[in-house]
Amino acid sequence: MAEQKNDLMDKIVSLCKRRGFVFPSSEIYGGFAAVYDFGPYGVELARNIREAWWKAMVRDHDNIVGLDSAIFMHPKVWEASGHVGGFSDPLAECRECHSRVRVDHLLEEAGVQADEKMTDEDINKLFSEHKDKVVCPKCGKKSFTEAKSFNLLVQSNLGNFTGDWTKEPTYLRGETCQGIYVNFKNVLDSSRVKVPFGIAQIGKAFRNEITARQFIFRKREFEQMEMQYFVRPEEAAATYEEWRKKRWQYYLDLGIREENLRWHEHENLVFYAKAAWDIEYKFPFGFKELEGVHNRSDYDLTQHSKFSGEDLSYRDPITNEKFMPWIIETSVGLDRTFLAVMTDAYTEEEVGEGDTRVVLKFPRKLAPVQIAVFPLLKNKPELVAKAREIFGSLKENFRVEFDDNGNVGKRYRRQDEIGTPYCVTVDFDTIGLGDPSSDGSRAGDKSLEGTVTVRDRDTMKQERIPIAGLQEYFSERLK
Ligand code: GAP
Repeated sequence: MAEQKNDLMDKIVSLCKRRGFVFPSSEIYGGFAAVYDFGPYGVELARNIREAWWKAMVRDHDNIVGLDSAIFMHPKVWEASGHVGGFSDPLAECRECHSRVRVDHLLEEAGVQADEKMTDEDINKLFSEHKDKVVCPKCGKKSFTEAKSFNLLVQSNLGNFTGDWTKEPTYLRGETCQGIYVNFKNVLDSSRVKVPFGIAQIGKAFRNEITARQFIFRKREFEQMEMQYFVRPEEAAATYEEWRKKRWQYYLDLGIREENLRWHEHENLVFYAKAAWDIEYKFPFGFKELEGVHNRSDYDLTQHSKFSGEDLSYRDPITNEKFMPWIIETSVGLDRTFLAVMTDAYTEEEVGEGDTRVVLKFPRKLAPVQIAVFPLLKNKPELVAKAREIFGSLKENFRVEFDDNGNVGKRYRRQDEIGTPYCVTVDFDTIGLGDPSSDGSRAGDKSLEGTVTVRDRDTMKQERIPIAGLQEYFSERLK
């Protein structure tokens, strides 16, 4: 079973590279651990995921607004948030080969339940209790140093002209939501929102992750899609439940199979959190966190009020009552969504004896390319011209690719592997020439003139559709 799962992961990683979804960063220099680049189809898939999230969170709500705050923030932000003091993972060193390992992950692999959010003390206790089970993934030995906290914030030298790294380090943000908290007052003063309301943001975050594993699941530079919803304290618990429902439904609407999703409740809540549940997805390496939905109480705005000296409490415009809003947070990684969508879509199908096709059955709205248009032969100018004309008219409304490489069979295979729902082929019938007969003449079926073949990715069925009806045909199926 485990072998099969790793096999699936290897296949996805290989397909991502082969078809231009994800490349290892700086590969010609040997790669750069836990950093990846999106290739031509990956960048399209990522855009479509961002777009679906933005629509569900911002456009579909009249009380949620967007924000794009900077990656760099005042260093005090990270003190106020607790990241400078407590944003860490438990790190130990193998006494034999000196490789650094994440203790919570090794415990988990040894079948010991360890929560990512446990304190050092708890982790060390578990670690010593189960030492005989924990094996170094590099050398296989079982001798480690004690676990120590390793801070995950990534430092930069921005604005540091003294060269002294210990003085006022500036950080690349460790999560995007801090940019939302520090702009709470700006948004309130400049837009017409009133509590309850939300601020949503998509952007890069950076973490010095100790272990570089599991492809784009755990990156050092990644993207978050976060929404912070500000509510009255007494409404927080009910609003939290509403957001749990909405976020679950969001994944179903995105096209993720429900059997691959599940809820996980945090057992060890950080002291300020009132509730924390994760939506987990069944990745090839098992169920793991995709999104966190948290009730963060009034912690964030209280902390930033304290550290900045700016009162971030809210005055109700009708009752004049003043209070510190509570925050319900929904936080998901773009990269994890990408991997979940890839995993959900990856399919291998028998097509004839000993022949298998690989097809990414993306939901139609997420597919990087929605329609591929082919001329049957690339060296027949009439076919190419007609195919180009169709490409030109469809690209106004859909994501379309023109493809004249290799033969049609090969093109179908390639489009299946990048998950294109429809392929349109312009052949001799389209231009009124029919199939060549044995004497080379082209009688053809004149009734097919002005029609093309449309092939469905999932059923592989082909049907003849009039060119004049293509817009409507695809609008019904893709919009
Ligand atoms: N603001 C809350 C927060 O950042 P988190 O659980 O640390 O909470 C939220 O991260 C989400 O961000 C995760 O559920 C995951 O989808 C994504 N994420 C976190 N670390 C990541 C990493 N190293 N690589 C890719 N995605 C990551």
